[in-house]
Amino acid sequence: MSERLIKVLPKGLWERRLDNFIPEDEVTERALDLSKKYVRHRAWKIGSNFVLLGGYGTGKTHLAAGIAIEAVNMGDTVAFITAPSLKIGDFKTICEKIQECSGVDLLVIDDLSNETENKMTTDKIFELINHRYEQGAGTIITSNLNLTDFDSTVGARIFSRLGERTAIMRLEGVSSYREKKRERYVAWTKQPLEDQGPAER
Ligand SMILES: Nc1ncnc2c1ncn2[C@@H]1O[C@H](COP(=O)(O)OP(=O)(O)OP(=O)(O)O)[C@@H](O)[C@H]1O
Ligand SMILES: [Mg+2]
Repeated sequence: MSERLIKVLPKGLWERRLDNFIPEDEVTERALDLSKKYVRHRAWKIGSNFVLLGGYGTGKTHLAAGIAIEAVNMGDTVAFITAPSLKIGDFKTICEKIQECSGVDLLVIDDLSNETENKMTTDKIFELINHRYEQGAGTIITSNLNLTDFDSTVGARIFSRLGERTAIMRLEGVSSYREKKRERYVAWTKQPLEDQGPAER
């Protein structure tokens, strides 16, 4: 595990790589394909953004982390932050936090929502994305919002400016992978008691 990766990604996300993302339908296949292309073309270096929208557990953070790992391995500077963490603190603290990550080659803002962010934070976030674009640096955003709510959260003006340099992937109709993982852990609950061997002592 490289030192740089340890600094960039929260520990639980190291294992979420593009090579262990299993596409289970056409939508996740396309999402993986776009993520790989974003990496292959190192598209963040030309200020291209990538937005992943979709329901809970559909793999948005997994793909964003997977791209972040690839970027670190390519030698680029990366920051991974959650949008709710940007909300904590007063205006000055928020500005400082935003300033800290403004200069990296690739920035991931995970979990943007309209409930957790107030207007000021959202405005600051998009000011940041815009500034990064001017510098030729891309940003990945993941969000549970649907396109309409994402649009209204961001605001029409920013949405239209963002749109010109952003690929949006909507993970619609994808069922939660967490449910699938859960099944593995609770499969024993469905086993008949008599089929199980004697408990070891
Ligand atoms: N297609 C996939 N292949 C392998 N693992 C997956 C896939 N999709 C999701 N996972 C795993 O399922 C869990 C949930 O995925 P993830 O955190 O990426 O979802 P999310 O879309 O970000 O959800 P949320 O909106 O709640 O943040 C993670 O452990 C992730 O590694
Ligand atoms: Mg997530």
